[in-house]
Amino acid sequence: MHVGCRGGGGGGRMECSWKTVLLLVCASLGVQYTAIRTLRDSLSGPCHGGVYHCQSRQPKDSRWRALCDDSMLPIEMSAAASRRHILLFTTTRSGSSFTGQLFNQHPGIFYVFEPLYHVQQAFTNSSSRLRRALDRRALLGAYRDLLLNLYTCDLRFLENYIRPEPQEHITGSFFRRSSSRALCSPPVCPEGGEGASGGQPDETWCPKKCGALNLTLASMACLSRGHVAIKTVRVPEVGDLRTLTEDPRLDLRIVHLVRDPRAILASRMMAFSEQFHAWKIWNATGRKPRYVDLSQITSTCRDMAESAETGLQRPAWLRGRYLLVRYEDLALNPAEKARELYKFVGLEMDENVRSWIAQNTNNSVPSTSEWNYKYSTTRDSKATAESWRLRLGFDIVRTLQTLCNDTLSLLGYRAVHSVADLRNMSNSLVEPRTFQTLL
Ligand SMILES: *[C@@H]1O[C@H](CO)[C@@H](O)[C@H](O)[C@H]1NC(C)=O
Ligand SMILES: *[C@@H]1O[C@H](CO)[C@@H](O)[C@H](O)[C@H]1NC(C)=O
Ligand SMILES: *[C@@H]1O[C@H](CO)[C@@H](O)[C@H](O)[C@H]1NC(C)=O
Ligand SMILES: *[C@@H]1O[C@H](CO)[C@@H](O)[C@H](O)[C@H]1NC(C)=O
Ligand SMILES: *[C@@H]1O[C@H](CO)[C@@H](O)[C@H](O)[C@H]1NC(C)=O
Ligand SMILES: *[C@@H]1O[C@H](CO)[C@@H](O)[C@H](O)[C@H]1NC(C)=O
Repeated sequence: MHVGCRGGGGGGRMECSWKTVLLLVCASLGVQYTAIRTLRDSLSGPCHGGVYHCQSRQPKDSRWRALCDDSMLPIEMSAAASRRHILLFTTTRSGSSFTGQLFNQHPGIFYVFEPLYHVQQAFTNSSSRLRRALDRRALLGAYRDLLLNLYTCDLRFLENYIRPEPQEHITGSFFRRSSSRALCSPPVCPEGGEGASGGQPDETWCPKKCGALNLTLASMACLSRGHVAIKTVRVPEVGDLRTLTEDPRLDLRIVHLVRDPRAILASRMMAFSEQFHAWKIWNATGRKPRYVDLSQITSTCRDMAESAETGLQRPAWLRGRYLLVRYEDLALNPAEKARELYKFVGLEMDENVRSWIAQNTNNSVPSTSEWNYKYSTTRDSKATAESWRLRLGFDIVRTLQTLCNDTLSLLGYRAVHSVADLRNMSNSLVEPRTFQTLL
């Protein structure tokens, strides 16, 4: 099966792209990774070759192992061995756009916003007969497969999933491309240099000025930045990432971003009004409609708690690779928390990150940054972290507290027992906690 999924060699085009499904079947048969092999023939650049290609070979293969030995490589190639692979691991409406910016703003980091979207789309769209054959494990396998390829800067691997299918490695359908600084700046987007935005949000100018995305160029830009950070909301539990934390080719650092589930729900109700129609009726009337779907928020809570429990137990496969971060703490003290994040991933915090934080979280600093247009509330991050308390009916809050009881106590979110308690903002519901997981 593995052979069936191999690319066409030098041309670089995947032969099996005619059916994403074939790839998924491969995954279901237990193939964790597809080797990276096409970039070597088509890329040339300062970071290309050496460690990167060695790392993508089977470590068992002694011919390659010799080449992978750092001591045999020139210094600039050895530097590639200290590449960090950062995963911002979270759920929707948990403050991940904000947190992702702390990595996106770093010029040495190649940041990608939710690439697994494409896998899920392709998977969801395969015929129902095939979909039944491809279980959850297959989807998770495909997710891991894509993450590994992206961490090793093979963006062309994504072509298997992007619809419509990219032509000549060019696509206009890269999900949230403008959330990625590197994909809106030179060399990927020659028009995207200093001052290109003219004060507009990246989402507005980048798709217009930058045109379609050349995935070969994007892969090269990835190689030329020292580190890769990926945000995803699609992997349910940290345990699903185990094969990646154990992969000798990666130095994975998982930032598990959590948020009060009551805040998550309030935010989802605002952002996805249609889907949350029944909840909104409940919120407005104080009476629970029969057809409210409690399963989504329940599984969000369960996954969050299970991952946190796993991480805090510090199993050998996760030791030093897991950091639990509450969004509320980040919102309350962004500069200090950002320093902690950078300490955890083992990188220097760049001046760009510092000034982004100052511009976007401090009301006394005038700013024209994009953040203020789209997420105007984020400016006063302290106030917004708990603003859900004014936007959620007590009946809903009480129901969530029952459903998510364990999660709330594990993560240090206090339950309220009256409307007065809920609305009284002088009492924070976020208990001070330190989650000691660095050792
Ligand atoms: C899913 O398939 C339908 C029918 O083939 C197509 O019209 C639609 O664009 C596809 N959606 C995605 C996201 O690929
Ligand atoms: C994409 O970028 C690569 C690398 O610079 C280049 O060789 C290729 O011609 C570009 N593709 C197109 C269609 O412009
Ligand atoms: C916000 O900006 C003001 C004015 O520049 C500065 O005095 C203050 O220390 C800043 N506060 C934070 C939390 O960065
Ligand atoms: C819930 O209802 C209140 C009014 O009772 C409203 O102010 C608030 O915006 C609603 N919240 C959501 C998330 O729709
Ligand atoms: C969870 O339930 C226990 C017992 O039912 C209760 O003592 C505790 O306060 C609850 N915790 C939260 C956060 O609701
Ligand atoms: C809010 O809580 C504070 C501190 O517990 C209390 O002093 C105050 O009276 C409360 N306000 C209202 C309106 O209940």
